[in-house]
Amino acid sequence: MVQRYVMSIDQGTTSTRCILFDARGRLVSVAQREHQQHFPRPGWVEHDAMEIWRNVARIVPQALADAGVEAGQVVGLGIANQRETTVLWDRHTGNPVGRAIVWQDTRTDAMLEHLAREPGADRVRQLCGLPLATYFSAPRIRWMLERTPGLRERAERGDVLFGTVESWLIWNLTGGVHVTDVTNASRTMLMNLRTLSWDDELLEFFDVPRAMLPDIRSSAEVYGTTSRVVPGIRIAAALGDQQAALFGQTCFAPGEAKCTYGTGSFLLLNTGPTPVLSTHGMLTTVGFKIGDEPAVYALEGSIAVTGSLVQWFRDGLELIGSAPEIETLARTVEDNGGCYIVPAFSGLFAPHWHSEARGVIAGLTSYITKGHLARAVLEATGWQTREVVDAMNADSGLALSTLKVDGGMTADNLLMQFVADVLDVPVVRPMVAETVSLGAAYAAGLSVGYWPDLEGLRRNWHRAGQWLPSMDPARRDSEYAHWRQAVELTFGWMR
Ligand code: G3P
Repeated sequence: MVQRYVMSIDQGTTSTRCILFDARGRLVSVAQREHQQHFPRPGWVEHDAMEIWRNVARIVPQALADAGVEAGQVVGLGIANQRETTVLWDRHTGNPVGRAIVWQDTRTDAMLEHLAREPGADRVRQLCGLPLATYFSAPRIRWMLERTPGLRERAERGDVLFGTVESWLIWNLTGGVHVTDVTNASRTMLMNLRTLSWDDELLEFFDVPRAMLPDIRSSAEVYGTTSRVVPGIRIAAALGDQQAALFGQTCFAPGEAKCTYGTGSFLLLNTGPTPVLSTHGMLTTVGFKIGDEPAVYALEGSIAVTGSLVQWFRDGLELIGSAPEIETLARTVEDNGGCYIVPAFSGLFAPHWHSEARGVIAGLTSYITKGHLARAVLEATGWQTREVVDAMNADSGLALSTLKVDGGMTADNLLMQFVADVLDVPVVRPMVAETVSLGAAYAAGLSVGYWPDLEGLRRNWHRAGQWLPSMDPARRDSEYAHWRQAVELTFGWMR
């Protein structure tokens, strides 16, 4: 019998991966390529959308060839992607209009301050579930339309199109299908959370022409078939990467949560079929929508800088040669020596939402060594998770009892133990750590009938690691108080 597989593309902030999965959710082959990060000015972060597309065009055939699999054996493709990153391109030539503006970019800060005083600003969160912050797509679209002469007119005619990265990839793979899915659309600030369609009030507020927007579809349905790269594969799912991880971790029921530790870290809690508006700095977002079934919503705590702080420690400070060395270096000392690093490189996201915050290293004395700094780098991820969990618990009225984790940083045992310690709950990691890719594959497999239902997928989840809390409560409380003092120092920096 011919074996069949599901393919996923995980287009992330720093690299793109193509993975083939078999029916038991096991990895069959992986192909990956990094792309360049462009930092043209402080606070600006850009990607070349063409480079990302070229990477996809290389890794898809490579993943197939490595596994000795033909395109005809692939039942469907699911795409997961870095969210909010904004691509504008010419409908006729297919060329991007400038570089893509990445979710970490803070250039729209001043524009948002101005918008916050405009009539209708108080309605935005109610309609789209998001605070006015530089993180999301709509202000970036407006920024691009305002800065490039003639662009707005072209966008109004539908000659220039907008998409988040999955939209850009689907358009390229199919040769012109212009769609997005509800999870990605829920990060633009332009979609009404309840109707799941573009909202006239929001379009007017951000001054974005409807003609440039993709059609909003569910997260799991066939959008089209690939006509380029490897023709004939059905594109059967798309989700923002963090929602894909929620799905890959099988957090299908209300109350289930996961945190993915990557460039940034994102904790999502499934809240069921009605959106819950946060009063503690969480985002309300669409978790997933499978075909015609009702949407499932989530509360999200987004942390902008976690893995990218380790990268900065490696590339900016050159204190380690590779990311995993941070754990070895941190283990050379007993504790942080009184030092705290708050990595507000893109302002602070949840639960603070201070775009103007800038990072600090607090508590420096001549006692501090690079070992203490390494600890402070890892601990920053733990404390940021704690802040988000506290806010999430306050919003949901429930105390999180276990945290499911995934992503590259979960290989760091010191960090995972610290997370369990500061949250005071067990932290568990599944066997397949590639939950973003797996979630996109699950959604694609469901949409084409490769997997029958959610229960079957649950059976694929197996625990691979667990960390139990062991920190003395008094120490936890005093350390947390120091962290919060350090956070205070980041607000209003040099204003
Ligand atoms: O919202 C941004 C998020 O989707 C980025 O995820 O894993 O590509 O850093 P990642």
